[in-house]
Amino acid sequence: MFKNFTHGHIERNVILLAVLTLITVSIGGLAQVVPLFTVETTIERVQGMRPYTPLELLGRNIYVREGCYACHSQMVRPFRDENERYGHFSLAAESMYDRPFQWGSKRTGPDLARVGGRYSDDWHAEHLRSPRALVPDSIMPPYAFLDRPLDYAAIENHLRAQAALGVPYTAEMIANARADLEAQARPDADGTAFAARYPRARQGAFDGNANAVTEMDALVAYLQMLGTLVQFRDVTPEQLDQH
Ligand code: HEC
Repeated sequence: MFKNFTHGHIERNVILLAVLTLITVSIGGLAQVVPLFTVETTIERVQGMRPYTPLELLGRNIYVREGCYACHSQMVRPFRDENERYGHFSLAAESMYDRPFQWGSKRTGPDLARVGGRYSDDWHAEHLRSPRALVPDSIMPPYAFLDRPLDYAAIENHLRAQAALGVPYTAEMIANARADLEAQARPDADGTAFAARYPRARQGAFDGNANAVTEMDALVAYLQMLGTLVQFRDVTPEQLDQH
């Protein structure tokens, strides 16, 4: 039956051509899509990544609320100039708990993906209160109003919402969210349980005042952890391929 059937027949029969094209393209599509259903995550796990602490999570919410992403990206691209200025290029895993992600699309100010630990807490608090006090030519707006108390009455719900989206907050983390938040903002509080739940999290009086938990505390705690979780000596070459 197919003896005299040539490529020419397919090209002259537009319906046959369309059907066969569709079948061919579907095979390619399926080969790409089907394996994704069998893997738990498409992001290579990297040692060191953990969910945000409750204080950092609220700091991140303030970052989103204030629209910091309109002027700051959080994604170091794999180019030499960027790596020299900001450090190692960003890995997919480094934003795996960011919902929504904060990659940004505009850099009026510098990239912040690795700003953590680059300045002191005092520098950040002062800079946020009055950017021009520290960087005279800065066009960043002042955020002195962040010295007001942080509203964390619903902190458990913030963790629950993230957990519903797939961030691995445990029942224990949710139950202790308020205690963990207060422990992180008070450097003299006992932070043993907190540190066990959130490795590498630092306790501090982030805004310079250890007696009140402010929005400034939350935002500075968040900025100070950005880009500090993954230790690049632990990362394998395969994980680096996933930028
Ligand atoms: C209108 C644009 C704009 C907005 C909005 C903005 N920034 Fe900036 N930011 C800048 C510019 C420009 C600089 C560089 C000059 C300076 O250091 O002040 C900067 C610098 C910074 C730096 C220092 C980075 C470094 O590596 O030196 C941090 C941290 C920062 N901004 C955080 C924030 C946060 C947090 C917010 C939101 C509360 C924010 N910025 C909102 C423009 C902006």
